[in-house]
This record gives sequence, C-alpha cells and structure tokens, in this order.
Amino acid sequence: MRDHQAAARCPLGQEQRIGQTSGDGQLRGGQCGVRSVAGAHAPAYSPTPVALVTRQLSHIWPRHSGLNEHGVLEIGDCDARELAREFGTPAYVVAEDDIRDRARAFREAFAARHPGRSEIFFASKAFPSTAILRILREEGVGCDVASGGELHLALRAGFAPERVLLHGNAKSVGELTMALDAGIGLIVLDNHDDLQRTEALAAQRGMRQRVLIRVTPGVRGDTHDKISTGQADSKFGFGLVEAREAVARLARSAALQLDGLHLHIGSQLLELEPFRVAIAMLSELGDHPVVNLGGGLGVAYTAAQQPPSLEDYVDAKVSAVEEHLGPGKAILDEPGRALTAQAGVTLYTVESVKRNVSTWVAVDGGMADNLRPMLYGAPYEAQIVDRFGEATPCRVTGKHCESGDVLIDDARLADPRPGDVIATPVTGAYGHAMANTYNGVPRPPVIVCRDGDARVVVRRETHDDLLARDV
Ligand SMILES: Cc1ncc(COP(=O)(O)O)c(C=O)c1O
Repeated sequence: MRDHQAAARCPLGQEQRIGQTSGDGQLRGGQCGVRSVAGAHAPAYSPTPVALVTRQLSHIWPRHSGLNEHGVLEIGDCDARELAREFGTPAYVVAEDDIRDRARAFREAFAARHPGRSEIFFASKAFPSTAILRILREEGVGCDVASGGELHLALRAGFAPERVLLHGNAKSVGELTMALDAGIGLIVLDNHDDLQRTEALAAQRGMRQRVLIRVTPGVRGDTHDKISTGQADSKFGFGLVEAREAVARLARSAALQLDGLHLHIGSQLLELEPFRVAIAMLSELGDHPVVNLGGGLGVAYTAAQQPPSLEDYVDAKVSAVEEHLGPGKAILDEPGRALTAQAGVTLYTVESVKRNVSTWVAVDGGMADNLRPMLYGAPYEAQIVDRFGEATPCRVTGKHCESGDVLIDDARLADPRPGDVIATPVTGAYGHAMANTYNGVPRPPVIVCRDGDARVVVRRETHDDLLARDV
C-alpha cells in the first residue's frame, strides 16, 4: 500500500520535494533534517551510545551523510526515517553533493596530472537517470552511452552532442543512425562489422565521423569474470591483430576519421597494475593523438575493501600513457561506478524476521532493485537507520521468489524487527540501472537529497505501469 500512495503523490515527470505541498494538498513535513521532528520519533532502542556510533560510520557511506544527535542516519541532511515515511520503500536515495564532489575531484585530478589534455566521460550505464546525468553535466563531464536509449537520456539531460561518445559491441543501424544524426562527438568501433556499418551510414550522409578503435589488450584485471573485459577471449573490442587491420583500413576511409584508441579492461578493479600493462599493449598499434582509457576504478562496498586512491589511479594511467604512448596525448577516462556508487543508499523496510539455521531479515525489495549480489556475489553492508549497531548476525533477503534473492549473506544488524527501516550503502551504481519488475514488483523511486531538501527525480513505478505496454 505504501508504494501506491507514494507513487500517486508524484506523477510522471514531476519532481516533488519534502516541504512542498503534495498532490493530495497536504503538507508533508518540513525539510527532512530530523532536528525539527526528532522528538516525536526518538529511537526506541539504542544498543550503543550515539557518540560511539558516530565514530563508527565508515567511508562506505555517502559524503554529506552521517548520524544526527539522535543516532538517525541523514543523507544530504535528510533524515532517512522521514524519507522512508514520505516516499515509501524501497527507495534509492542519492546524496547530490557526493556526486558533485567526486566528479570535480576526478576532473581536477586528471587536470593536475595532465594539464589541458584530459576529459572525463561519465559511463551513463552506471546511473541512467536524466537528473543524475544533469548533475554530472553541470560538473563539466561528458557522457558515454552504450545504446540508443542511453543516448536519448544523455541528449535529454542536455549534453552537447559533441560531448557524447557511443559504445557497443552490437550497435544497430537504428542506434548508429541516431548517433550520426545527433552529431555526437565520437563513436567507439568494436569490431569489423561495426566499422563497416558505421562507415556506410556516415558515407550515405556525406559525413566524416570521428571514431576510436576499442582494443582488447589481452590483459585480465582481478575482478569478477562477468565484469572482466580486457582478456583475449572477450566479447568486446578488436584483438591486437584485428586492431592493426582496422587502423590500416581507417587510414583509407573518407567517411571515418580515426582519432585514436580505446580500452576498458573491466570494472571494480582494486589493483592498478593491469591498467599499466594494458596501456603498454597499445603502443603496438601506432601513434594516435587520443587515447580513451575506459573506467574501472573500484569502490569500497564494505568497510574492509580498500580501493586505490583517485590520485594513484590517475597517476598510474597517465604515467603509463606518457611512458608507452608518448607525451601530449589527449587522455579520456570513463568512470561510472567511481562517480556515483558511494553517493547512493537504498532504503528498505523489514517485513519479517525468521529464525531457522540463519536469522532471515526479509525486506520489501531485493534482487529486482539490486541484482549485483546475484550476478557477481557482490558484498554489501546494512544498518537500521535509527539503530546503528552490529548485535545480530543475519541474512538480509529480498521478497522475490528465488532462494538466491539474498542481498547480504553476512549482515550484522541491531536486533532487527518488522517495520525497521534499513539502509544498504553503495547502491548508487548499477542498481537503478539494472532494476527490473520481477514478480510484478514496481521499481523504486530515485530521491536526490541536498542540504536537507529531498526531491523525487524518478517516481516509483505503479501497478498500472506494469500494464502500460499491453496491447
Ligand atoms: C566501455 C566502458 N567504459 C566505462 C565503463 C564504466 O566502468 P566502471 O563503472 O567500472 O567505472 C564500462 C562499464 O561497463 C564500460 O563498459
């Protein structure tokens, strides 16, 4: 029931803010900083002194979030309990300033290490929402798209077409036509068929389209098989021999102009050496003015994970380009997860707590709003938003009809009970992006929080939406 009411209050295409009059004419609370209302909702159970808990908040929670004086999680100064009450659960909550900070830091780190010759493109697959793309556009990054749909979102978000680049190992004529007609900056060619098709379409239009060649360097980073892309037997990119052929072929092309090379060896990489080795391999393919180094910088999903620092990542990539490809190259980088993952938190409500061999804490979402645990065995942490603590080892499970629908295998929550709101951090990348409606469960809203102000930028799906494509 909660879902439908929240959806009804926020019709398609409209943003709703806490503190604004909602559709039913009632004022729903003030700004969502808890201070004005905390007295009414003081936590009933506090296993650990708040001051102690505050010190325990780890680096995996969004910047601009923390525990207030009542021990309640705030994201972008918005009280997580108030957000759950106002917008329902599950909900993706994003700290806007976290994304802005990270985008700025990325640009500045490359600009400092490689002045005047670097450009950052957000890999929009990580968070394909126009509102999030707009925030990143405002921070001066370009946009990487991998389909006609992502291109549509990028253009709707206001990216200048020349700051958009298109990827894809199976681009359709329709997608290439869209890209060429929009006048996008770069098309990254993945294979000979792609090259031929792109060339024919550009020639028909009398255009000269700038392109990069995606190279599979035969280097494997230490990550899950399903997000490793740089190995020789990859579905992505030209192998080194084929890439050499493509370079020769493009030298004769009137319709395509080869600007340079691209590689993306995989995602969620926690070591830098594979980037260096992969970049060195590109030196076999001649001298080109542009090199796009893909994304891949890993993030900490749990407090125990320690990814490389941004500065070390930038230095590793830029040093390898200087050493192996020469000075003065234009360097493009395509972070996805590193810009948005840690800005996002998913709020759920606990529906049941059951004990057999394990303690099963079942929430009102699951594999439909976060596929990563099922796809990659990805680890997560969780906390009850107004009772941070670690007293009860448990398994946080979803509501879907699959035994594998387990969000967290080894969570520790403070005496979880039905009705508790729990938060899983680091869900700002590939969560909303991969959401589906399995079991007819409507997809959650996206709520952007900043300075105590919360706005719905993607409304909750409704049951009627599930019928919208019926004919
Ligand atoms: C071509 C390309 N660039 C960039 C990215 C972004 O990767 P990440 O989110 O790991 O930074 C991906 C992810 O799949 C990709 O395929």
